Order: sequence, then C-alpha cells, then structure tokens
Amino acid sequence: MSETPTFTPRVFSGIQPSGGLTLGNYLGAMTRFVDWQDRGTHETIFCMVDLHAITVPQKPETLRHNTRELCAGFLAAGIDPERSILINQSQVPEHAQLAWVFNCVARMGWMGRMTQWKDKAGKNAEAASLGLFAYPALMAADILIYKSTHVPVGDDQKQHLELTRDIATKFNHDFGVELFPITEPVIEGAATRVMSLKDGTKKMSKSDPVDASRINLTDDADTIARKFKKAKTDPDPLPGHAEALDARPDVRNLVNIYAALDGRDVGTVLAEKEGKMLGYFKQELADLAVEKLSPISQEMSRLMRDPAEIDRMLARGAERARAISVPILEEVYDVVGMVR
Ligand code: AMP
Ligand code: TRP
Repeated sequence: MSETPTFTPRVFSGIQPSGGLTLGNYLGAMTRFVDWQDRGTHETIFCMVDLHAITVPQKPETLRHNTRELCAGFLAAGIDPERSILINQSQVPEHAQLAWVFNCVARMGWMGRMTQWKDKAGKNAEAASLGLFAYPALMAADILIYKSTHVPVGDDQKQHLELTRDIATKFNHDFGVELFPITEPVIEGAATRVMSLKDGTKKMSKSDPVDASRINLTDDADTIARKFKKAKTDPDPLPGHAEALDARPDVRNLVNIYAALDGRDVGTVLAEKEGKMLGYFKQELADLAVEKLSPISQEMSRLMRDPAEIDRMLARGAERARAISVPILEEVYDVVGMVR
C-alpha cells in the first residue's frame, strides 16, 4: 500500500502588478503574508503575477513600473527577501510551463463557471482574451509548482482556490499519483473583504474607475483624510454591537477597516466608540490610517529610487524559487510522458 506523502509546509500567494496597491490588498493580503513569514512555521513564497496582469491590455512601461512598485510594496509592508522568497512570475518560467499542462487538465465547463471570468468578460466574452479565460489554471500552476500547502488570500479568490484543488485532485487521479497536495485556502483576519468607500456592497478594487472609492498606498495624508471624509455613510451614530451594522454596509466597512488597522476586533472597537457620530469617527479613522500607511508609502518611494536594487533582489528570488520549481516540473513531465 502506498503511503500518503507528506508535503513540506509551504505558503504561496500572489498579487497582480496591474495598478497601485489598495488598502484592500494591504489588509486582506499583505499583512497576512507578513504574519505567515514572521510565524516561521512554513516556507513562504510571494509573487508579483505579471503574466496574470497581461490577461487584459497593459502598457509595457507601466507594467514594468507597477511590477517594481509592487515589489517595493511587499518590502515596505515587511516581507524580508531573505526569510521569504520574493519573485516576479515571468522570471520563473516553470509557472507558465505547468500552466500549459493544467490547461489540458482543467475542463472548459469548470472555467466557464468562474464568477471573476463572468464579471470581467461581461457581455462581450467573444472579445475577451483566451488568457483571461485560462487565468485560474495559471493561478493553480503558481501554487502547485511549489507543491504549496497553504494559500492566504482575500475572500474574492475563494473560487479560484477551489478550482486549484479540483485540478490537483484530477491530475493525481488521472495519473494515479499523489504528486500534488490539496492546498488549503486561508481566508482569515478582520479584513478579508474591504469594500468600496462609495458603495459598501462592492469590493474595493484597483480597477474601479472612481479613485475616491479606494485608498491607495501611495495616497498622501490629505488625500486619505479627504477620501474617508467623503466616504458614503448615514446620519446615525455608531452602535455598540456588530449585529446592528448588518443593514449598514457602508458604516460596517469603515468600522472593519478601523479594527483591522488597529489590530483589534470589531466588537472591541464598537464597545469603545458607541454613540459617536460618523463625522467624528471618520476623522479618527483617517488619523489612524495615515499613522499606519504613511511609513509604508515613504519606504516605497525610497525603494523606488533604486530600481536596479529591486531588479537584483528579484533575480535572486527567481534563482531560489527555481531550486524548488525545476525538479517539480521534471517530476510532472515524467508522469505525463514527456521525453527528457
Ligand atoms: P489583486 O489585487 O486582485 O491581485 O489581489 C491581490 C490580493 O489582495 C488577493 O489575495 C485578494 O484577495 C486581495 N484583495 C484584493 N482586493 C481586496 C479587498 N477589497 N479586500 C480584501 N482583500 C482584497
Ligand atoms: N488571482 C489573484 C488575484 O487576482 C492573484 C494570484 C495569482 C494569486 N496567482 C495566485 C493569489 C496564486 C494566490 C495564489 O488576486
């Protein structure tokens, strides 16, 4: 009888370099990544997914700039390129190579059910790129090319992680192997879904055309204060309990953001702020956000003054990543039947 293989505990996650980082990325993803790294129980690999970004049109110079700026964001938020492996996706070619194999494992029906595909392709799916449709197979390859066991992400990526598990299961089953782990999604923390400041039922997104709907990590203190001040709310004061916010998504979002920035839970924050008017609370929130975010944006601009150093770090990250990914791709090719 074959024994179930044990996999090295390994965390992988990625962010697209398709625009500036938002407060949603920071609270939903970056701060979680740093926690995993600092806990030290798992190997940690973090990735700028430039190949994912080109599923929609990108200006080449802007993409290069955004990739380096995202790298600066990872570093400024606390990712240590010695303790973690920090990479740019296209510099580790095994991601794209495994993605091709997964394109042949995943079924058209599975991909067609992805809500992100339906949202992004919209009514004009005929004109969307083939890459946009295949995107979740590349994401599965990002994760499984390292046999990653845990993937911290925001709530919007849940369905893609279920697909990753389906691909791993089908590959293992079709070839009668236990090559890939069934990865655990890790969707946790006070801010798995940070909402738009203009509509508390929509997620905060870097692709929203309205800049005032989000906080960018590069916004200055005045801009942050102005955006929170103009955030959509209602005239009622803050309640003492979280359940009372169920029907007030805009207010709930601001309280969640406050709690996440302050590292406390929503109940504790509300117990302290009960009865305060929103105008007053927004000012407190703006002050807290500026206090937490401005050191990060300052560090990002400092790092961006030396792009060559960023490039050196990424080259080193790719080298370390390939020490893991090359043997795994060889194993896959052997199983699938490629002559080597
Ligand atoms: P993306 O910017 O789409 O590449 O997302 C990168 C990471 O940030 C993923 O783990 C997302 O789930 C997370 N993320 C993006 N937007 C939000 C948001 N509004 N709230 C919480 N997490 C988010
Ligand atoms: N699809 C993710 C997003 O849009 C980014 C991503 C690509 C990712 N590959 C990944 C996240 C692998 C986690 C693991 O946010």
